[in-house]
Amino acid sequence: MIGEGLSRTDGPLKVSGRARYSAERREMGEPLHGFILGAAIGKGRVVSIDTSRAEAMPGVQLVLTHLNAPPQAEVIPKSDILDVQPQLTTDVIAHYGAPVAFVVADTFEQARAAAALIDIGYEVVAGEFVLDENSAAPEWHDESRLGDLDAAMAAGAATIDAVYATPYHFSQPMELHACIADWRNGHLTLHIAAQMVAQLADAVADTILIDRSCITVDSSFVGGGFGAKIALHAEAILSALATRQLNRPVQLVLTRRQGFTIAGHRPASISRVRLAATREGQLTGIGHDANIQVSPEGNWKEGVATVARALYAAPNRLTRTRHSELDTGVCEPVRGPGEVPGLMVFESALDELAEKLGIDPLELRIRNDTAIDPEKHRPLSGRRLVECLREGAARFGWDQRPKTPASRRDGRWLIGYGVGSSIRGHYQTTAEARVRLDPDGQVIVQTDMTDIGTGTYTIAAQVAAAALGVPVGQVRVELARSNLPRGNGAGGSWGSGNTSVAIDRACQALREKLGRVAGTGYNDLFAEVRRHFPTGIEAVGSTRGMDDEPSYENFSIFTYGATFTEVGVDIMTGETRIRRMLGVFSAGRILNAKTARSQLLGGMIWGISAALHEAAHVDPRNGAWVNGDFAEYLVPTHADVPQIEAIALDDFDGAANHLGSKGIGELGSGGTAGSVANAVYNATGVRVRDFPITISKLLPGLPKI
Ligand code: MOS
Repeated sequence: MIGEGLSRTDGPLKVSGRARYSAERREMGEPLHGFILGAAIGKGRVVSIDTSRAEAMPGVQLVLTHLNAPPQAEVIPKSDILDVQPQLTTDVIAHYGAPVAFVVADTFEQARAAAALIDIGYEVVAGEFVLDENSAAPEWHDESRLGDLDAAMAAGAATIDAVYATPYHFSQPMELHACIADWRNGHLTLHIAAQMVAQLADAVADTILIDRSCITVDSSFVGGGFGAKIALHAEAILSALATRQLNRPVQLVLTRRQGFTIAGHRPASISRVRLAATREGQLTGIGHDANIQVSPEGNWKEGVATVARALYAAPNRLTRTRHSELDTGVCEPVRGPGEVPGLMVFESALDELAEKLGIDPLELRIRNDTAIDPEKHRPLSGRRLVECLREGAARFGWDQRPKTPASRRDGRWLIGYGVGSSIRGHYQTTAEARVRLDPDGQVIVQTDMTDIGTGTYTIAAQVAAAALGVPVGQVRVELARSNLPRGNGAGGSWGSGNTSVAIDRACQALREKLGRVAGTGYNDLFAEVRRHFPTGIEAVGSTRGMDDEPSYENFSIFTYGATFTEVGVDIMTGETRIRRMLGVFSAGRILNAKTARSQLLGGMIWGISAALHEAAHVDPRNGAWVNGDFAEYLVPTHADVPQIEAIALDDFDGAANHLGSKGIGELGSGGTAGSVANAVYNATGVRVRDFPITISKLLPGLPKI
């Protein structure tokens, strides 16, 4: 039952349009519609604002600006990405597109048209918008140092000392950021596209200064998150303030472009990677210095420089980060936070080292495997990186790799192979689930965990069915409401693990309760429920946070993978096409083979995107996103993703939890981008260190025809 590739139980609801996403909910009646007017400057102040023309427009119910917005929480230095988020409480503009006014009208079109008639005078202040060597403050942060990297670099038989750049990325789930806020009888209900409902409810209550008991958040169906729906944004706060004022439900959906300015991004980064090795390919030094954009408005710091800390052995190690405080908006988690930019550049550097040493890049990775966390000096549980590499190499036909760059042709295509390793921390947080057995034969699972498209409804039913010995069809799963038992939502790849452990424990508690009165020999669960508990029986199970689990102190717990890529690069145009791709992963016990494969494939496609397509470009005059929409922010389409396969090794990691499972949501993306970059180098002999690898960067170095 657990592990079976069961199709999504919510699939029929979704393909028939009966699964209602946040902006489609109508149980509160027809809502009013809001539209946010964003700042047209990158930094400065609103010096005048005239809303009279907007207020006179048909259908307009309310116009909020910093002059009339209700009192909200003070802006405090943020301790968490999901924190208070006051709106329109100041005339200060911190980044391009930040909300400066909010219009509510009978229809969306009326609200949008009225917003265009608000007259604003700005005072522009010079902002900092460009990430470069000069933008970084001198202090180092989050430093980890072992041995002497400089000495290792001086003594290394082969060394790499190279600088790489990665651009701004966005999560941009298909479902736009959306909220319907409904204030009635002193209670606020938010139907919102969110990844973590309880934490969001806390932050909303704290922001608009109402009691937490007066708020319910409901995120029953969410159309993708990828990190963008963790933090609290303007759509929740402005719709909540408006419904409280108007006593009518208010719907607010951000436009795609507003998703680029009102929700956050993955910061751009500049990395210096240093590697030193013996002639035999034993790493003696690993260094990664990252310079990342940070925002004065938020506290998310992308862990670019930390990805190699447990990846390979080496006695001399130095990894650290410098911060460039720029006015380009708020940084937030974007799928594979840290790993996507960090591994993309680190695995590229390792490939460069293999080339210098004349050692096969697969072999170089295998030679530097470690069973012990090189920095924390404790065992790496479930360390199966080498098996991922070997299994992948055998299946992919790595022995057919061109040994010399730019040496293989297929007509006009230059052919290359590349490999990249993946590693991702496994995290556990507190979570609770309630399981109820109804006398009529229904199992009901309740928890506030969300299903952001990843399969929680299905996995939760499988875990409960397995634990109770009933068919999956007998289990009803209720998720994603803040009045259900509290967990930590979907994020950090921890959702399924946290939730499954809690559900399984709740089921064990139920079996014990039943066993005490019915013994253990019964063969009809619900007959015993009816006999001994005629109104039903329920129990709560919980997952402890990793700080309270000794196993997380005794072991370093990660997931692993290896991606193999074959590319063709058009020798005349420089166009890169992925020809085939294989990922092999070790992530503990797989809870559902189908949804897991889908997550891993999605991650790998994300990696293709990071290597070849995605980059948000900043207008250096005002910090606006030049290509902040789906017309020009490139992501892969079907034609960019040909034959691709993901395999999960048969695995069980008892150090992670008693079910042996670990998170997979972000694993697939990590090393995949590096494998693409390395394949492009193998095909062309051109090493692009400034991602993404575009035609204009490849073309000058391509072999002459
Ligand atoms: Mo993930 S980037 O924590 O949704």
